[in-house]
Amino acid sequence: PANLLLWSCIAYLLGSVSFAVLISRLRHLPDPRQLGSRNPGASNMLRLGNRSLALATLLGDLSKGALAVALAWRAGLPLAEQGWVGLAAVCGHVLPIFHRLQGGKGVATAAGVMLVLAWPAALLAALIWLATFYWQRMASLASLLASLSLLPWLAWQAPTLLLPVSLMVGLILLRHRVNIGRLLNGQENRFKP
Ligand code: G3P
Repeated sequence: PANLLLWSCIAYLLGSVSFAVLISRLRHLPDPRQLGSRNPGASNMLRLGNRSLALATLLGDLSKGALAVALAWRAGLPLAEQGWVGLAAVCGHVLPIFHRLQGGKGVATAAGVMLVLAWPAALLAALIWLATFYWQRMASLASLLASLSLLPWLAWQAPTLLLPVSLMVGLILLRHRVNIGRLLNGQENRFKP
């Protein structure tokens, strides 16, 4: 338990590094929390018009999630505990201590977490994300369907991860509540093809 607490704190701190905010500051661009969807994440960076910075944000946020779980794995934590460490990393992204708790929606960080925890589930989710985005041009719908796809897969292949990952998906859903409202009203923002 002491080890789990230690690695969860480290994961939370890693998760708290918001690459959208950092990259924007480094490039002297406005804070992504003030523009577009006001979300500090890769989708909003893309919306604000810079593909390479969006990609850098995606890779940065993904890597911090992957690193947090990889460190816990190296430290010898069992798989279920690695799942809780991953949840801590996503909590860091959502409520970052370094950015006045104004964080993002957790999707890219969760993708990095899942890549280390259960890469086939992450791969399947990534394919669902891409297919949905290609089909509907909506990042939120893609993220929601990809996140939900993790649960049946884990129930089948890695039930020990089901509880922490369900909480992670629950957190992602909660952070998308405004998007979900717009999706239900048919008013969600679409990316231009
Ligand atoms: O990963 C975030 C995405 O699901 C939604 O972002 O900026 O379109 O609200 P946004």
